[in-house]
Amino acid sequence: MKAQRSVVLVKPDGLQRGLVGEIISRFEQKGLKLVAIKMMRLTDEILDEWYAHHKAKPFFPRLKSFMKVAPVVAMLWEGLDCVDCVRILTGITKARAAEAGSIRGDLAVSQQLNLIHASDTLEMAKKEEKLIFTKDEIFEYKKDIEVFVYSEEERE
Ligand code: CMP
Repeated sequence: MKAQRSVVLVKPDGLQRGLVGEIISRFEQKGLKLVAIKMMRLTDEILDEWYAHHKAKPFFPRLKSFMKVAPVVAMLWEGLDCVDCVRILTGITKARAAEAGSIRGDLAVSQQLNLIHASDTLEMAKKEEKLIFTKDEIFEYKKDIEVFVYSEEERE
């Protein structure tokens, strides 16, 4: 299978609201494979790189301090077309306008406190994976259930 990997962060609001388990469940139930998970505090160094494309935005300083008010839970999910799949499950940035059924659509109302970060593109996913995880934190393993998750053709 030509699987992609996508980085998900449960943001400080998700941790404080006790939604870590619910968020992990959404991705697990979808059929994605968890290949890395850890709790960490984001540093200015990581955030400047992580949100480099938002640096000129008026909300950037507030966004940066919000991402440091509590630790985040960082995860790496794997699957076919994983980047798009995770983004659809996540819902759009402005949570109160996000589609019902998505994580933000069901569980949040804010544009800033929108519970999770999900990689935008495959290119961003690769950059974010390197910023957050070391090689030995990422696990390769076989999930036998995959024969009931993907077709034979999709697994090739
Ligand atoms: P995300 O899409 O994960 O990455 C950029 C983040 O910036 C976004 O989630 C929000 O948390 C935050 N953000 C986006 N737009 C605004 C805004 N207008 N005001 C405050 N925060 C924002």
